[in-house]
Amino acid sequence: MKKLEQIYEGKAKKVFNTDDPDLLIVDYKDDATAFNGEKKGTIVGKGVINNRMTNQFMRLLAADSVPTHYVEELSDRETLVKAVKIVPLEVIVRNIAAGSFSKRFGVREGTVFKKPTLEFSYKNDDLGDPMINDSQIYAIELATPSELALIREYAYKINDFLKSTLLECGITLVDFKLEFGKTSDGTIILADEISPDTCRFWDAKTGEKLDKDRFRQDLGNVEGAYQEMSRRLFGK
Ligand code: C5P
Repeated sequence: MKKLEQIYEGKAKKVFNTDDPDLLIVDYKDDATAFNGEKKGTIVGKGVINNRMTNQFMRLLAADSVPTHYVEELSDRETLVKAVKIVPLEVIVRNIAAGSFSKRFGVREGTVFKKPTLEFSYKNDDLGDPMINDSQIYAIELATPSELALIREYAYKINDFLKSTLLECGITLVDFKLEFGKTSDGTIILADEISPDTCRFWDAKTGEKLDKDRFRQDLGNVEGAYQEMSRRLFGK
């Protein structure tokens, strides 16, 4: 497999073409941004942890019948993935109120929901990723009803899987964001990452935040939180 030219550089990842048109290489960076790019920084070692954690979750999810873009971990920071056309939706599942949910609806952070919530945002930096509902998604043709039904089904299934896997490591899964993509034959698969950048993880006993909120909220010990999540999942 030959790594060819860079085709994309995002906030936390670079993507490269390969000599196979159906495969791409993702390269995880240590760069961190928050508030739609207004806050910028570096979290040393984050790329390595996010690469490894995402790949582990994706391998386990594939075994649990959730198709993903993961193909092979190539190095500490690089992973071979299937090329997809990203569905421009952020799919957010929440078990506990925090972040924008608490702010938008005036709900105390830490309020545990009886059932998980699921919401969509339209992935569009210029518009600030606005929340979007099903009928609006169909109106601007971001996904069809059957595609959206599948995305919802996968999102809840991923929540069940992540919640129980993390609890075994003493971690409460508060909420997370997923992205899906479409392969050339139209199959919907999980793409992007599952990491402390895209999830809220709290220590199940102490409630300590072990995710990117430490960076967003200037809580300190940001690197330590990523390392602790890695330790919980992989040991030393
Ligand atoms: O900010 P908010 O409360 O809406 O975030 C919900 C979850 O989605 C958090 O786990 C956050 O890390 C994730 N998220 C993300 N990328 C975004 C927006 C939210 O990973 N652009």
